[in-house]
Amino acid sequence: MKEGVDIKSILGLVASQRNLANGEILLKEAAASCGEDYKLELIRLPDLKLEPCLGCYTCLGPGKRCPLNDDLYFLGNKIKAADGLILAAPCYFLGPAAITKLWSDRTIALSQFLEEFWDKPMTIIATAGIKGWEGYSLSALVAMMKFLGFRIQDARMFIGALPGEVLENPLIEQQIKEMGQALFGTASKIEDGKCPTCRSEIWKFPQPGLAVCPLCTQEAVLEMRDGKVKWVYGPAGKRFEHLDLEYHFREFLPSKVREYIDRRKEFARLRKPYETKENWFKPPANR
Ligand SMILES: Cc1cc2nc3c(=O)[nH]c(=O)nc-3n(C[C@H](O)[C@H](O)[C@H](O)COP(=O)(O)O)c2cc1C
Repeated sequence: MKEGVDIKSILGLVASQRNLANGEILLKEAAASCGEDYKLELIRLPDLKLEPCLGCYTCLGPGKRCPLNDDLYFLGNKIKAADGLILAAPCYFLGPAAITKLWSDRTIALSQFLEEFWDKPMTIIATAGIKGWEGYSLSALVAMMKFLGFRIQDARMFIGALPGEVLENPLIEQQIKEMGQALFGTASKIEDGKCPTCRSEIWKFPQPGLAVCPLCTQEAVLEMRDGKVKWVYGPAGKRFEHLDLEYHFREFLPSKVREYIDRRKEFARLRKPYETKENWFKPPANR
């Protein structure tokens, strides 16, 4: 590293439990291609104690934190300190490994970091074992990370089942180099067929000729031109825009909490008939 040169700090988040496996290797390669002097810090997400969200909304109160005593704020502060992020997550049963969702489910508490996380560049590396079995993994990862405010510079799926197998694909070197360069450089082009706003690969078709991105709400009208289907995109989907996220976390959700406090007696009456104590089972304490 040259003296006096700005050193970029990259936080690499590895969602796989497997040591030196496909995602971890690709993440290190991408960091090495970022075109900057860099320092890579790594966190294996399953090493963290991350509890499921309680759904209590306590963290929305002014000056309040999530009441769970785990590593969420450690992770939040590490992210805050990084100049850029690389996430590597394996596909498990067509979706991203559960640890990524466990983290993402804590987004309400992490929304306190929205200003600090906002626009932080990130690249997402997903790995799957079988071509055609990738499912919704990449789209789900993109949506989870957009909720946290990151700027997704590139997101790609790589195929390889055995640890290290991805490296046998001769195209990988070039692809991962492009991903690394995109982190602090120009975002990769969004391929045809993906949502131009959020990069999702999933579309819904609520009526003939209309496609809607279920993640960011981008719409497209499908028109026949010269015997071909042409996608005509409307304005960018708004869900992950700064103002919309801010509104959701700072106004809408707190207003629902206030509504619940005001109407809790009404809701208690509605819920009462469903109260049961006798048919809940818990595993034995000494398994
Ligand atoms: C529990 C489990 C479920 C998996 N489900 C899928 C799947 O649905 N589709 C697929 O293509 N690969 C699946 N795989 C294979 C992994 O995605 C693949 O090995 C990937 O490279 C793992 O990433 P890693 O090497 O970084 O750990 C699964 C692996 C495990 C352990």
